Amino acid sequence: MNNNLYTLITGASEGFGRALALECARRGMNLVLVALPGPELHSLSQFIQKNFAVKVIAIEKDLSIAGNCVELFKNVTTLNLKVNILINNAGIGNTHLFSDGSISFYQKQVQLNVMATTLLTRLFLDSLEKNGPSYILNVGSLCSFFFLAKKQVYGATKSFIYFFSKSLRNELAGSNVHVSVICPGGMNTNLSVTMVNKKMSWLSQLAVMNPENVAPIAIDGLLRQKEVIIPGRINKLFLLLNTVIPAYLKKMIANHQMKQLNSMSPANNRTLLQPSFAVTYPANIKPLIN
Ligand SMILES: NC(=O)c1ccc[n+]([C@@H]2O[C@H](COP(=O)([O-])OP(=O)(O)OC[C@H]3O[C@@H](n4cnc5c(N)ncnc54)[C@H](OP(=O)(O)O)[C@@H]3O)[C@@H](O)[C@H]2O)c1
Repeated sequence: MNNNLYTLITGASEGFGRALALECARRGMNLVLVALPGPELHSLSQFIQKNFAVKVIAIEKDLSIAGNCVELFKNVTTLNLKVNILINNAGIGNTHLFSDGSISFYQKQVQLNVMATTLLTRLFLDSLEKNGPSYILNVGSLCSFFFLAKKQVYGATKSFIYFFSKSLRNELAGSNVHVSVICPGGMNTNLSVTMVNKKMSWLSQLAVMNPENVAPIAIDGLLRQKEVIIPGRINKLFLLLNTVIPAYLKKMIANHQMKQLNSMSPANNRTLLQPSFAVTYPANIKPLIN
């Protein structure tokens, strides 16, 4: 590894970002770790500095604020850090009905999942080109490929990440910047996600992975310039089924599910959308895929 180059990871203090940071440190990569202000970021960077022969810079930023993405870029430039790997990992999920989320929640979710990834990629692109060969890893999700109740906005932001990454990769083909997108299924990252994963259907639970097992797959795939990285056999199977099941059959399954939901007692159901064109869902809908 070139000792003057850095890997920048957003959302690095916890969960998948933390696992990616440790994996990169193991591979001798210097790190710029970014997360919300808090002690976890600093304890992780101290741990890495103590245990691995790499340089670590911790930068606290709320990346859901566009100006902070610009500030982060300025901080990195002022410190004269040469970034050759950008990992856009920070993201917020949701597992609730659309009508249960507040305007401010959706604003933050779209700002962080979509805008921060777009802005940081644009801001760092010129330096990535200068420091090449360079790599961009965008963290999507398996749910980019499915239409899931209770994950509507999250799934849509991850579809954005998927299409953005693939388009940018095409645009940069032949340059020295390689773009990959990773679409993990459920991972036991923070406590609340782990609790949600435990309530999923048995099939989905089988697909859940630990971030420590996904991180090496992510970095291997990135350095091998893989376009789309799908960790885990069961997740690959989900995707295959999605492509081979004909559309009319998927519609029949969805209609059947809706009939079942509608036949349930109203006491168990929750109202989605406006009452004038209400569709009812039970409170305990189990998402198939994260
Ligand atoms: N967990 C899953 O099942 C799963 C599945 C597929 C894809 N993913 C994707 O994987 C990525 C990481 O998810 P995770 O489950 O590891 O999340 P997590 O455990 O909640 O960790 C999120 C990280 O992002 C940071 N962060 C949150 N809001 C931020 C903000 N406004 N500005 C800067 N940093 C912020 C957090 O910092 P603090 O610790 O300081 O709050 C933390 O380091 C996300 O993009 C997620 O969509 C997760």
